[in-house]
Amino acid sequence: MNKMIEVEHFTKRYGDFTAVDDISFTVDEGSIFAFLGPNGAGKTTMIKMMADVLLPDSGQILYDGRDIHIIGDEYRAKVGYLPQEISFYSNFTGKDYLAYSAALKGMEKSYAKQRIDELAHHVGLQNDLKRQCRAYSGGMQRRLGIAQALLDNPEILILDEPTAGLDPLERVKFRNIISAYSNDRLVLLSTHIVSEIEHIASKIMMMEYGVIRYVNTSEEYIKMAKNCVWLVKMSAEKLVEYQNNAVISNVIAKDGAMEVRVIDEEKPFANAVQTAPTLEDVYLYIFHYLPQKARR
Ligand SMILES: Nc1ncnc2c1ncn2[C@@H]1O[C@H](COP(=O)(O)OP(=O)(O)O)[C@@H](O)[C@H]1O
Ligand SMILES: [Mg+2]
Repeated sequence: MNKMIEVEHFTKRYGDFTAVDDISFTVDEGSIFAFLGPNGAGKTTMIKMMADVLLPDSGQILYDGRDIHIIGDEYRAKVGYLPQEISFYSNFTGKDYLAYSAALKGMEKSYAKQRIDELAHHVGLQNDLKRQCRAYSGGMQRRLGIAQALLDNPEILILDEPTAGLDPLERVKFRNIISAYSNDRLVLLSTHIVSEIEHIASKIMMMEYGVIRYVNTSEEYIKMAKNCVWLVKMSAEKLVEYQNNAVISNVIAKDGAMEVRVIDEEKPFANAVQTAPTLEDVYLYIFHYLPQKARR
Protein backbone atom coordinates (compact mmCIF):
# COMPACT_ATOMS: atom_id res chain seq x y z
CA MET A 1 0.00 0.00 0.00
CA ASN A 2 1.13 3.53 -0.69
CA LYS A 3 2.25 5.68 2.19
CA MET A 4 -0.05 8.55 2.90
CA ILE A 5 -0.54 11.47 5.23
CA GLU A 6 -3.90 11.74 6.94
CA VAL A 7 -4.76 14.96 8.72
CA GLU A 8 -7.71 14.61 11.05
CA HIS A 9 -9.55 17.60 12.51
CA PHE A 10 -6.61 19.99 12.81
CA THR A 11 -7.44 23.09 14.85
CA LYS A 12 -5.03 25.82 15.89
CA ARG A 13 -5.79 28.95 17.91
CA TYR A 14 -3.59 31.93 18.68
CA GLY A 15 -5.19 33.22 21.89
CA ASP A 16 -8.90 33.23 21.11
CA PHE A 17 -8.32 33.66 17.37
CA THR A 18 -8.85 30.45 15.39
CA ALA A 19 -6.25 30.31 12.60
CA VAL A 20 -7.07 26.76 11.45
CA ASP A 21 -10.52 25.39 12.13
CA ASP A 22 -11.17 21.63 12.05
CA ILE A 23 -9.36 20.75 8.81
CA SER A 24 -9.16 17.14 7.57
CA PHE A 25 -7.67 15.77 4.34
CA THR A 26 -5.32 13.11 2.99
CA VAL A 27 -2.22 13.26 0.78
CA ASP A 28 -1.09 10.24 -1.23
CA GLU A 29 2.42 9.24 -2.09
CA GLY A 30 3.47 10.33 -5.59
CA SER A 31 1.45 13.49 -5.43
CA ILE A 32 1.78 17.23 -4.99
CA PHE A 33 -0.71 18.77 -2.61
CA ALA A 34 -1.07 22.55 -2.63
CA PHE A 35 -2.58 24.98 -0.14
CA LEU A 36 -3.90 28.00 -1.99
CA GLY A 37 -5.53 31.02 -0.46
CA PRO A 38 -5.21 34.72 0.26
CA ASN A 39 -2.76 36.08 2.84
CA GLY A 40 -3.98 35.22 6.31
CA ALA A 41 -5.92 32.12 5.16
CA GLY A 42 -3.96 29.86 7.52
CA LYS A 43 -1.54 28.23 5.05
CA THR A 44 1.63 28.78 7.10
CA THR A 45 -0.11 27.55 10.25
CA MET A 46 -1.14 24.36 8.38
CA ILE A 47 2.35 23.88 6.94
CA LYS A 48 4.04 24.28 10.33
CA MET A 49 1.76 21.69 11.89
CA MET A 50 2.44 19.28 9.00
CA ALA A 51 6.20 19.82 9.47
CA ASP A 52 5.74 19.14 13.20
CA VAL A 53 7.24 22.46 14.27
CA LEU A 54 3.92 23.71 15.67
CA LEU A 55 1.49 21.68 17.76
CA PRO A 56 -2.22 21.75 16.91
CA ASP A 57 -4.65 22.48 19.75
CA SER A 58 -6.62 19.48 18.64
CA GLY A 59 -6.58 16.91 15.89
CA GLN A 60 -3.85 14.59 14.73
CA ILE A 61 -1.78 13.62 11.75
CA LEU A 62 -0.98 10.09 10.69
CA TYR A 63 1.89 9.10 8.41
CA ASP A 64 1.71 5.58 7.05
CA GLY A 65 -1.02 4.94 9.61
CA ARG A 66 1.02 6.10 12.65
CA ASP A 67 0.55 9.22 14.75
CA ILE A 68 3.52 11.52 14.07
CA HIS A 69 3.72 12.53 17.72
CA ILE A 70 4.29 8.94 18.66
CA ILE A 71 6.95 8.44 15.96
CA GLY A 72 8.38 11.93 16.67
CA ASP A 73 12.02 12.18 15.53
CA GLU A 74 11.50 9.40 13.04
CA TYR A 75 8.85 11.52 11.28
CA ARG A 76 10.90 14.71 11.37
CA ALA A 77 13.86 12.80 9.88
CA LYS A 78 11.71 12.00 6.84
CA VAL A 79 10.67 15.63 6.31
CA GLY A 80 12.44 18.32 4.27
CA TYR A 81 11.00 21.68 5.28
CA LEU A 82 11.30 25.13 3.78
CA PRO A 83 9.82 27.73 6.16
CA GLN A 84 8.23 30.92 4.81
CA GLU A 85 10.96 32.98 6.50
CA ILE A 86 14.53 31.75 6.86
CA SER A 87 17.14 33.57 8.90
CA PHE A 88 20.80 33.08 8.04
CA TYR A 89 23.76 33.36 10.38
CA SER A 90 25.56 36.57 9.54
CA ASN A 91 28.80 35.32 8.08
CA PHE A 92 27.64 32.00 6.62
CA THR A 93 28.31 31.38 2.96
CA GLY A 94 25.76 29.40 0.93
CA LYS A 95 28.01 26.38 1.28
CA ASP A 96 28.34 26.82 5.08
CA TYR A 97 24.56 26.99 5.35
CA LEU A 98 24.02 23.78 3.38
CA ALA A 99 26.86 21.96 5.18
CA TYR A 100 25.45 23.05 8.54
CA SER A 101 21.94 21.91 7.54
CA ALA A 102 23.37 18.56 6.38
CA ALA A 103 25.12 18.11 9.74
CA LEU A 104 21.87 18.85 11.60
CA LYS A 105 20.18 16.18 9.51
CA GLY A 106 22.93 13.75 10.52
CA MET A 107 24.14 13.25 6.94
CA GLU A 108 27.45 11.51 6.38
CA LYS A 109 30.10 14.04 5.20
CA SER A 110 31.03 12.74 1.75
CA TYR A 111 27.37 12.12 0.88
CA ALA A 112 26.54 15.63 2.10
CA LYS A 113 29.26 17.10 -0.13
CA GLN A 114 27.96 15.21 -3.14
CA ARG A 115 24.35 16.32 -2.52
CA ILE A 116 25.40 19.95 -1.96
CA ASP A 117 27.18 20.00 -5.34
CA GLU A 118 24.25 18.31 -7.07
CA LEU A 119 21.59 20.55 -5.58
CA ALA A 120 23.57 23.76 -6.04
CA HIS A 121 23.49 22.91 -9.75
CA HIS A 122 19.80 22.07 -9.73
CA VAL A 123 18.87 25.40 -8.19
CA GLY A 124 21.49 27.36 -10.18
CA LEU A 125 23.66 28.48 -7.26
CA GLN A 126 26.84 26.61 -8.19
CA ASN A 127 28.76 29.86 -8.73
CA ASP A 128 27.49 31.58 -5.60
CA LEU A 129 28.14 29.04 -2.86
CA LYS A 130 31.21 30.90 -1.58
CA ARG A 131 29.34 34.17 -1.15
CA GLN A 132 27.69 35.17 2.12
CA CYS A 133 24.06 34.18 1.91
CA ARG A 134 22.83 37.28 3.72
CA ALA A 135 23.97 39.19 0.63
CA TYR A 136 21.93 36.93 -1.70
CA SER A 137 18.87 38.35 -3.43
CA GLY A 138 15.45 37.19 -2.15
CA GLY A 139 15.17 34.70 -5.02
CA MET A 140 18.64 33.27 -4.36
CA GLN A 141 17.85 32.84 -0.66
CA ARG A 142 14.66 31.04 -1.65
CA ARG A 143 16.61 28.72 -3.97
CA LEU A 144 19.15 28.05 -1.22
CA GLY A 145 16.26 27.16 1.09
CA ILE A 146 14.82 24.78 -1.51
CA ALA A 147 18.23 23.06 -1.82
CA GLN A 148 18.34 22.75 2.00
CA ALA A 149 14.88 21.13 2.07
CA LEU A 150 15.92 18.59 -0.59
CA LEU A 151 19.33 17.72 0.92
CA ASP A 152 18.80 14.23 2.25
CA ASN A 153 16.14 13.18 -0.26
CA PRO A 154 13.24 13.43 2.19
CA GLU A 155 10.19 11.19 1.76
CA ILE A 156 8.04 14.19 2.59
CA LEU A 157 8.82 17.63 1.21
CA ILE A 158 7.03 20.60 2.78
CA LEU A 159 7.51 24.03 1.22
CA ASP A 160 5.96 27.30 2.40
CA GLU A 161 5.71 29.84 -0.45
CA PRO A 162 8.65 28.26 -2.30
CA THR A 163 8.36 30.50 -5.35
CA ALA A 164 8.21 33.85 -3.55
CA GLY A 165 10.78 36.16 -5.17
CA LEU A 166 11.70 33.78 -8.02
CA ASP A 167 11.84 35.19 -11.54
CA PRO A 168 9.85 33.50 -14.35
CA LEU A 169 12.70 31.26 -15.50
CA GLU A 170 13.50 30.20 -11.94
CA ARG A 171 9.82 29.38 -11.43
CA VAL A 172 9.81 27.08 -14.44
CA LYS A 173 12.95 25.34 -13.16
CA PHE A 174 11.42 25.00 -9.72
CA ARG A 175 8.27 23.41 -11.16
CA ASN A 176 10.36 20.89 -13.07
CA ILE A 177 12.44 19.97 -10.01
CA ILE A 178 9.31 19.47 -7.91
CA SER A 179 7.41 17.50 -10.55
CA ALA A 180 10.36 15.13 -11.01
CA TYR A 181 10.78 14.84 -7.25
CA SER A 182 7.16 14.01 -6.50
CA ASN A 183 7.18 10.70 -8.38
CA ASP A 184 7.45 8.41 -5.38
CA ARG A 185 7.26 10.99 -2.61
CA LEU A 186 4.86 13.40 -0.98
CA VAL A 187 5.13 17.09 -1.68
CA LEU A 188 3.09 19.71 0.17
CA LEU A 189 3.38 23.35 -0.70
CA SER A 190 1.62 26.62 -0.12
CA THR A 191 1.24 29.59 -2.40
CA HIS A 192 -1.01 32.54 -3.03
CA ILE A 193 -0.05 32.55 -6.72
CA VAL A 194 -2.55 30.45 -8.62
CA SER A 195 -0.58 29.93 -11.84
CA GLU A 196 2.32 28.36 -9.88
CA ILE A 197 0.44 25.18 -9.19
CA GLU A 198 -2.23 24.94 -11.89
CA HIS A 199 -0.28 22.39 -13.92
CA ILE A 200 1.72 20.52 -11.27
CA ALA A 201 -0.49 20.02 -8.22
CA SER A 202 -2.45 16.76 -8.06
CA LYS A 203 -4.81 18.24 -5.48
CA ILE A 204 -5.38 21.84 -4.50
CA MET A 205 -6.93 22.90 -1.21
CA MET A 206 -8.43 26.35 -1.46
CA MET A 207 -8.65 27.81 2.01
CA GLU A 208 -9.85 31.05 3.55
CA TYR A 209 -10.37 32.18 7.16
CA GLY A 210 -8.79 28.95 8.41
CA VAL A 211 -11.33 26.66 6.76
CA ILE A 212 -11.35 24.52 3.62
CA ARG A 213 -13.31 25.94 0.71
CA TYR A 214 -12.63 23.05 -1.68
CA VAL A 215 -10.17 20.23 -2.25
CA ASN A 216 -10.13 19.45 -5.97
CA THR A 217 -7.94 18.72 -8.96
CA SER A 218 -7.31 21.57 -11.43
CA GLU A 219 -9.69 19.93 -13.90
CA GLU A 220 -12.47 19.78 -11.31
CA TYR A 221 -11.95 23.46 -10.49
CA ILE A 222 -12.03 24.43 -14.16
CA LYS A 223 -15.44 22.75 -14.49
CA MET A 224 -16.81 24.87 -11.63
CA ALA A 225 -16.46 28.08 -13.66
CA LYS A 226 -17.10 26.53 -17.06
CA ASN A 227 -19.76 29.02 -18.22
CA CYS A 228 -18.56 32.07 -16.30
CA VAL A 229 -15.59 33.48 -18.23
CA TRP A 230 -16.13 36.04 -21.01
CA LEU A 231 -14.08 38.15 -23.38
CA VAL A 232 -15.52 41.62 -23.99
CA LYS A 233 -14.20 44.44 -26.18
CA MET A 234 -14.66 47.94 -24.78
CA SER A 235 -13.04 51.35 -24.80
CA ALA A 236 -10.57 52.36 -22.09
CA GLU A 237 -13.04 54.99 -20.79
CA LYS A 238 -15.81 52.42 -20.50
CA LEU A 239 -13.43 50.02 -18.66
CA VAL A 240 -12.58 52.64 -16.02
CA GLU A 241 -16.28 52.91 -15.19
CA TYR A 242 -17.11 49.21 -15.58
CA GLN A 243 -14.30 47.76 -13.46
CA ASN A 244 -15.74 49.02 -10.17
CA ASN A 245 -18.75 46.75 -10.49
CA ALA A 246 -17.23 43.75 -12.17
CA VAL A 247 -14.81 40.89 -11.56
CA ILE A 248 -12.05 41.27 -14.14
CA SER A 249 -9.26 38.74 -14.40
CA ASN A 250 -7.25 40.31 -17.21
CA VAL A 251 -7.14 43.17 -19.73
CA ILE A 252 -5.26 43.23 -23.03
CA ALA A 253 -4.96 46.26 -25.31
CA LYS A 254 -5.95 45.10 -28.77
CA ASP A 255 -6.68 47.01 -32.01
CA GLY A 256 -7.17 50.33 -30.25
CA ALA A 257 -9.65 48.92 -27.71
CA MET A 258 -9.47 46.84 -24.55
CA GLU A 259 -10.15 43.11 -24.51
CA VAL A 260 -11.44 42.47 -21.02
CA ARG A 261 -11.62 39.04 -19.38
CA VAL A 262 -14.70 39.09 -17.17
CA ILE A 263 -15.92 36.57 -14.59
CA ASP A 264 -19.73 36.59 -14.52
CA GLU A 265 -22.45 33.98 -14.03
CA GLU A 266 -24.48 35.72 -16.73
CA LYS A 267 -23.48 37.08 -20.12
CA PRO A 268 -22.34 40.61 -19.20
CA PHE A 269 -22.72 42.26 -22.65
CA ALA A 270 -24.36 41.34 -25.94
CA ASN A 271 -20.92 41.20 -27.60
CA ALA A 272 -19.34 39.03 -24.87
CA VAL A 273 -17.81 35.75 -26.05
CA GLN A 274 -17.50 32.81 -23.70
CA THR A 275 -14.02 31.38 -23.17
CA ALA A 276 -12.38 28.51 -21.25
CA PRO A 277 -11.42 29.28 -17.63
CA THR A 278 -7.94 29.09 -16.20
CA LEU A 279 -7.43 28.21 -12.55
CA GLU A 280 -6.92 31.91 -11.85
CA ASP A 281 -10.39 32.67 -13.26
CA VAL A 282 -11.86 29.95 -11.05
CA TYR A 283 -10.10 31.36 -8.00
CA LEU A 284 -11.66 34.78 -8.66
CA TYR A 285 -15.02 33.14 -9.32
CA ILE A 286 -14.95 31.22 -6.04
CA PHE A 287 -13.79 34.12 -3.89
CA HIS A 288 -16.24 36.61 -5.43
CA TYR A 289 -19.33 34.59 -6.26
CA LEU A 290 -19.23 31.87 -3.63
CA PRO A 291 -17.98 33.88 -0.65
CA GLN A 292 -17.24 32.36 2.72
CA LYS A 293 -18.15 34.36 5.79
CA ALA A 294 -15.40 34.81 8.35
CA ARG A 295 -16.09 32.42 11.21
CA ARG A 296 -13.30 33.41 13.55
N1 LIG B 1 1.93 33.68 16.14
C1 LIG B 1 0.74 34.22 15.84
N2 LIG B 1 0.02 34.89 16.77
C2 LIG B 1 -1.19 35.41 16.48
N3 LIG B 1 -1.79 35.31 15.27
C3 LIG B 1 -1.12 34.66 14.30
C4 LIG B 1 0.17 34.07 14.53
N4 LIG B 1 0.57 33.49 13.38
C5 LIG B 1 -0.41 33.70 12.48
N5 LIG B 1 -1.44 34.39 13.03
C6 LIG B 1 -2.69 34.77 12.35
O1 LIG B 1 -3.30 33.59 11.87
C7 LIG B 1 -3.86 33.80 10.57
C8 LIG B 1 -3.27 32.81 9.60
O2 LIG B 1 -1.91 33.12 9.42
P1 LIG B 1 -0.97 32.27 8.47
O3 LIG B 1 -1.09 30.84 8.83
O4 LIG B 1 0.38 32.87 8.50
O5 LIG B 1 -1.69 32.52 7.05
P2 LIG B 1 -1.11 32.49 5.54
O6 LIG B 1 0.17 31.72 5.57
O7 LIG B 1 -2.19 31.84 4.76
O8 LIG B 1 -0.91 33.91 5.12
C9 LIG B 1 -3.57 35.26 10.22
O9 LIG B 1 -4.72 36.01 10.50
C10 LIG B 1 -2.42 35.62 11.12
O10 LIG B 1 -2.44 36.99 11.43
MG1 LIG C 1 2.04 32.14 4.93
